[in-house]
Amino acid sequence: MTDNSIFSVIGRQRACRAYSDEPVPDDVIAQVLRAATFAPSAENHQPWEFIVVRDSARRSEIARLMQRAWEDYGRAFSEPRSTPKLLTDVHRGMTGGFATAPVWIVVAADLDRTLDVTVQSSIYPAVQNLLLAATALGLGSALTTIATLAEELATLLALPNNVQPVAVVPLGYPARPLAPPKREPFEAHTHRETYDTNW
Ligand SMILES: Cc1cc2nc3c(=O)[nH]c(=O)nc-3n(C[C@H](O)[C@H](O)[C@H](O)COP(=O)(O)O)c2cc1C
Repeated sequence: MTDNSIFSVIGRQRACRAYSDEPVPDDVIAQVLRAATFAPSAENHQPWEFIVVRDSARRSEIARLMQRAWEDYGRAFSEPRSTPKLLTDVHRGMTGGFATAPVWIVVAADLDRTLDVTVQSSIYPAVQNLLLAATALGLGSALTTIATLAEELATLLALPNNVQPVAVVPLGYPARPLAPPKREPFEAHTHRETYDTNW
């Protein structure tokens, strides 16, 4: 049986870039989004708006925008700093893997319900909750930001001017089990009292 203690879920959460076509029921999505809304936000304004996209033509269009952003500038931007393995994984996701997700959740900020300086910082905690809840429910997901500035995305989703996309999250059951994520030990980046004393 899956260990769904918070530390186990956190230790499993990672980007999924290939999905099965198994549908995700509304009540499962509701659980994920309810978890998202328990995130902190500046002054508790809760400025999030979630656009859940299931329609296949609309999903394809989001995937197309993402692929275009990747091919036009994303890949060249990331290439100098990415390992070949990560670049290959991301490339596969951006050019077709993410398109297999049966659901996209666009997480947006209502600019009338947050200050300019906290738009991103009041949305990303909710996105992280969403990713963790998805993991606990056996779903794959990924945080992407590349397509969020596209005017086409706003048009496609009929966003009013005050609603700005912050993250685009594909969601669905993974096509295959995800290996554990790799992270540097926290000790490598932790200091006692002042920076010159390592943990
Ligand atoms: C701000 C941000 C933007 C990201 N954008 C993308 C993206 O455009 N495409 C992608 O495949 N992954 C994207 N990721 C996922 C990262 O590549 C991933 O979290 C990181 O490589 C760790 O890998 P893991 O999740 O497999 O452990 C993004 C993550 C963050 C935090």
